[in-house]
Amino acid sequence: MARPRVFVSRQIFPEALEMISSVADVDLWESEMPPPRDVLLKRVRGVDGLLCLLTDKVDSELMDTAGPQLKVVSQIAVGFDNIDVPEATSRGIPVGNTPDVLTHTTADAAWALMMAAARRITEGERAVRAGQWRTWHPLHFLGQDIYGATLGVIGMGRIGIEVAKRARGFEMQVLYDDVYRREDLEAELGYRYVDQDTLLAESDFVTLHTVLDDSTHHLIGEVELAKMKPTAVLVNASRGPVVDPEALYDALRNGVIGAAALDVTDPEPIPASDPLLTLDNCVIVPHIASASVKTRGEMSRIAAQNLINGLNGERLLTPVNPEVY
Ligand code: GLV
Repeated sequence: MARPRVFVSRQIFPEALEMISSVADVDLWESEMPPPRDVLLKRVRGVDGLLCLLTDKVDSELMDTAGPQLKVVSQIAVGFDNIDVPEATSRGIPVGNTPDVLTHTTADAAWALMMAAARRITEGERAVRAGQWRTWHPLHFLGQDIYGATLGVIGMGRIGIEVAKRARGFEMQVLYDDVYRREDLEAELGYRYVDQDTLLAESDFVTLHTVLDDSTHHLIGEVELAKMKPTAVLVNASRGPVVDPEALYDALRNGVIGAAALDVTDPEPIPASDPLLTLDNCVIVPHIASASVKTRGEMSRIAAQNLINGLNGERLLTPVNPEVY
């Protein structure tokens, strides 16, 4: 029987590629940059499986172009807002993602961002490298205390919970807002379930861990920023469009909030000319929250296994549309 054909849209860990090549003929996009749309469409034609990234748009056009033999779409990321999942489901195509293995790594990164913004770490480092460290001064680089402060978590899913748990060592109060109430966490860990306005008004740190969909697009805009404390720090390690970037720029520039730290931006990558990059009180890193050696290795392995299971007609390890079964 002919081996299945798959398109893998970027280099992943070699061990994971070997897993896939042992069962399928692999067409690998080797460039560091995403395949342009026309190339992506050309390369998926006739494939049985697709291993994709959050930078690849997987929609009905792509599924049509691939053809009716397409058996599986395996994304190497936990988020999948780039994929038209209902469309895949209607065609009986299972879609996989890589949850769980990246939860702790991403929560650690949210903390790294929060602390960097609160204590002006990247700004201080830039000053040192620019030769501007002239003396110790009682009024230089004053930031915000984390210990004993209030943390507001918007989106108390797997990653939000782990971010909240890390607040314990800092003896912080934790407020959270989510469509689902977690009374177990309230009883066990003392978290307080509040509405978004209360969370914004009372938190010293607001951290975003929602999915991106129509209900969370620009969840944080001018009105919401105005409800926050003038010293507050906003952290976004979810998806860029959850925050309105123009409103964020105005709020940071005019002292409406104290600082922001972003793992994700809108658009991505952020252009070098973006006004947010002119602000000292905005930390921006290039969407690296899950980027540890161990976690990216695990994500590669799970994405590979999901692809293989889909090719074999077996249930994916982590399907996002289990209703196809
Ligand atoms: C990264 O943003 C992911 O969704 O895994």
